Amino acid sequence: MCGIFAYSGPRNNAPLLVVEGLKCLEYRGYDSWGVAYQAKGDIKIYKKVGKIGDFKAKDHKFETSSLAIGHSRWATHGGVNRVNAHPHFSENKEIVLVHNGIFENYLDTKKFLEKKGHKFISKTDTEVIAHLIEEHAKTHSFEDSVKMAIKEIEGRYAIVVIKEDENKIIAARKGSPLIIGVGKNEFFIASDIPAFLKYTNKVIYLDDNQICTVENKKISFFDNIKEEEVKKRIIEIEWDIESAEKGEHPHFMIKEIIEQKDTLNRAINQDPKVIEQVAKEIKKAFGTYFIGCGTAGKVALVGEYLFAKISKKHINFAFGSEFPYHRQFLTNKTLLIAVSQSGETADTLEAIEIAKEKGVKIVSIVNVESSTMARISDIVIPLKAGPEKAVASTKATTSQLAILTLLAYACNGGILEGKHLLINAASQINDMINPRYEDHIMKLARKIKNVESMYIIGRGMNYPIALEAAIKLQEVSYIHAEGFAGGELKHGPIALISKDTPVIALVANDDCKNEIISNATEVKARGGYIIGVSPENHEVFDYWIRVPDAGNASPILNIIPIQILAYQLAVLRKNNPDMPRNLAKSVTVK
Ligand code: M6R
Repeated sequence: MCGIFAYSGPRNNAPLLVVEGLKCLEYRGYDSWGVAYQAKGDIKIYKKVGKIGDFKAKDHKFETSSLAIGHSRWATHGGVNRVNAHPHFSENKEIVLVHNGIFENYLDTKKFLEKKGHKFISKTDTEVIAHLIEEHAKTHSFEDSVKMAIKEIEGRYAIVVIKEDENKIIAARKGSPLIIGVGKNEFFIASDIPAFLKYTNKVIYLDDNQICTVENKKISFFDNIKEEEVKKRIIEIEWDIESAEKGEHPHFMIKEIIEQKDTLNRAINQDPKVIEQVAKEIKKAFGTYFIGCGTAGKVALVGEYLFAKISKKHINFAFGSEFPYHRQFLTNKTLLIAVSQSGETADTLEAIEIAKEKGVKIVSIVNVESSTMARISDIVIPLKAGPEKAVASTKATTSQLAILTLLAYACNGGILEGKHLLINAASQINDMINPRYEDHIMKLARKIKNVESMYIIGRGMNYPIALEAAIKLQEVSYIHAEGFAGGELKHGPIALISKDTPVIALVANDDCKNEIISNATEVKARGGYIIGVSPENHEVFDYWIRVPDAGNASPILNIIPIQILAYQLAVLRKNNPDMPRNLAKSVTVK
């Protein structure tokens, strides 16, 4: 995962324009960054360690240029330093390249090139691609060299390349996103649309194994498998620029938490025909899997509980990375439902590819409708949450939960009942996302901000929410947080409880209520500090966070105060909640 941005057109401030574009992509990687551009026949490179968001135009004077490429990095191969930052030069310094993805067989290629005299200065797989293109360019044109080089790459990639004596940009992708923004006589190439949205809303989606060349105000496309030119459609997209910007909010995370007042309604408002169609597929399938990673994985696990309870159907759950170990059970009657915000998560994509090989039908519940996942699925249910930029998923999570709830009801012939339940839950969000509610949670945040560890317990469909709550707290507050099934505590984890250890109990008004209260009581007897997230107060709670009673939609509402708490803890602990250390928004590596 990394951000790529490139520009070719009449503007003569291409390097700065690329820097600004990369700032919008910083959520994809933020340990270092760099820009390469053509200036008076030469290629200039400027690289820096740190966040591109910190860069000001006065920090460096770029020369005039109308062709530039850039990259914001999330390190995979090689540590975080200037040498490993992209762009990377070829040996002869004529070719320069940025890359998002993993070149899996790069070590073999590196050895092969070293034998031919190539010397590498970085530890990256990317530099090897630049050298490989140079090697082919000794006997072939620039374009053909790129075509030949990428045929040798195993793994996922999005690359953008320029060459010193050629006034063109070549871009190619397989498995990692690249989208072209089409302006008037100008082209933008980026990992995600918001990066160029202020210039154009006309886009072309590059597909896997396709190469695009921008030269002299013209763009052309080539299919590297079929080895032929391809025509691509320009699509006008409806996103507005505000939805991709922070506006008056200090961070994207809080903006996106607040947006749930609206996004949940949008998620509920699905085309009933699509929901009924997926419900039909689930009923028809001989075995259905829900898969996802991280937060999306926890949502998928909630789905297993929702289907057991609402539609009396067993659905198998697997994390994307674990799904390959279930491949023996797959047949052409299996159904796979993948949950993802970005639609670019490598582990989930790999699971889908394995399933497709066995003839499995694929449904994706995904936010980015232009993503790889959406494009390779048979049926897509869009989250319609708008761009989610903070690394910690919030609004996409509740939208995913809403769609799974709707599907569970649809599978039981009760789509309207499900919709009614969800509309009711959505209407309660105003009672939760407001300054008074946030202040109440802030009091708790101040009290626990220096604890070493905290735990979250839940039962039934709120058990995966306890796991999700732990992720949320871990990734932005950096406090050790773990989620458990309430009943599991006494089998080991209760040994971790000592005086004042904060334990959040997710208590819904459902058939688990008495048991989870008992589990909280067991913790309290060992000195734990019980924070109840519940429609009603209870004597076992030391601190109560009220959530509306939402019936089977309780997972949706229960996670919201935890999102707010995680955000507030991050701010109190002086962490950047939008860009947590070691993480990036979409995990496009395995
Ligand atoms: O884009 P996806 O939903 O497929 O991403 C999956 C996970 O990487 C993601 O949910 C991750 O766990 C988030 N940082 C959690 O907030």
